[in-house]
Amino acid sequence: MLEGKKIAIGISGSISAYKIVHLVRLLIKQKAEVKVIMTPAARDFVAPLTLSTLSKNDVLTDLAAADTWANHVALGRWADLLLIAPLSCNTLAKMAHGHCDNLLLSVYLSATCPVMVSPAMDEDMWQHPATQKNIGTLRTFGHIILAPHHGELASGLIGQGRMEEPEVILSHIEAFFSNTQTALSGKKVLITAGPTQEALDPVRFIGNHSSGKMGYALALECRRRGANVVLVLGPAPAVLQQDLSGMTVIKVTSAEEMYQACMEQFPTADMALMAAAVADYRPAAVSATKIKKQNVDLALQLVKTRDILAALGAIKTPQQLLLGFALETDHEESHALEKLHKKNADYIVLNSLSDGAAFGADTNKITIYSRNGSKVAFDSKSKNAVAQDIINTILKEGETT
Ligand code: CTP
Repeated sequence: MLEGKKIAIGISGSISAYKIVHLVRLLIKQKAEVKVIMTPAARDFVAPLTLSTLSKNDVLTDLAAADTWANHVALGRWADLLLIAPLSCNTLAKMAHGHCDNLLLSVYLSATCPVMVSPAMDEDMWQHPATQKNIGTLRTFGHIILAPHHGELASGLIGQGRMEEPEVILSHIEAFFSNTQTALSGKKVLITAGPTQEALDPVRFIGNHSSGKMGYALALECRRRGANVVLVLGPAPAVLQQDLSGMTVIKVTSAEEMYQACMEQFPTADMALMAAAVADYRPAAVSATKIKKQNVDLALQLVKTRDILAALGAIKTPQQLLLGFALETDHEESHALEKLHKKNADYIVLNSLSDGAAFGADTNKITIYSRNGSKVAFDSKSKNAVAQDIINTILKEGETT
């Protein structure tokens, strides 16, 4: 798939620079053409000779060396993709502000091709508002950002900041060069995520354990592919602390608020992905004051909420694509298929509690059923990888129907 693709790789100063040696090997095996540019700091972490041998091209670091001038403009124009990995905090800040004090930055500023970055840094540096602002700036430039993942860091601490593994970066590069990569560009994608809370009184509610992580992963994936994402988000604190830049976020609390927001947004959407765990019932009456403890037991009367997926299914046009989830504990397939047809969805993503799926977990194991009768089962993966599988599946199926 990557045969003849021209990939310029910029390496900045981070301990994870050694992983790029393996990435270059993977790319060369796939017959891509690779040219490596390093910042001066990157040379402290990995030897240019290793990279030039593997890439079969000179590794460039300096704007001028031995009386020759490195033509950064030509390099920027040569590439079909400029990957900057690892992206250090320092190089990120310089990119966001247009600094140009080394060859990599001048190649970056002259590049006419798309840019992909894979940051690597300590969690505190990644979370710092300045870094998040700089990442937000790169996003507004339209760059593809492979968010660092959680794990052991060079500092010895555990947290978010690890550069993506070479195999994962490779799969992002492959996805970039596939047709499905740009298919969402400019499309409006409505996504629901998180739980809903149904008030009993001013201090209590009925809710569920949904973390919102699956819907957030879908939102990230769609944003990365250029979609205009509208995220209708229930009270999911973990998601609210994440990077929501470049998306329209509508915060809601109850199923009814989520329903209203979706009904307003859906008519102009190309696609709706309903990942929220919406309450099926709410208290029949909400007390205006705190319900006081009595000496007798208390029975709650619950009434049904509106089914948002079914409501969107009822007004869906043939051009719109509607995807729902089904969380089941038994008779998984028959329940999922029943939801697919009853709610008039195009796809149902089944996750089974008996198969390892769990609210709050970082991984998920899914099977996707389509109204055309197809069924695709996947292994257990991170929710980010699951989001990629979902989007790839519906775009691929869309190409063949
Ligand atoms: N859903 C919705 N509105 C509701 C309930 C569910 O939009 N009031 C959506 C969910 O976002 C999900 C799909 O419907 O995409 C299936 O949700 P699930 O809870 O598995 O199914 P239910 O229809 O609620 O059925 P049950 O709880 O009986 O399994």
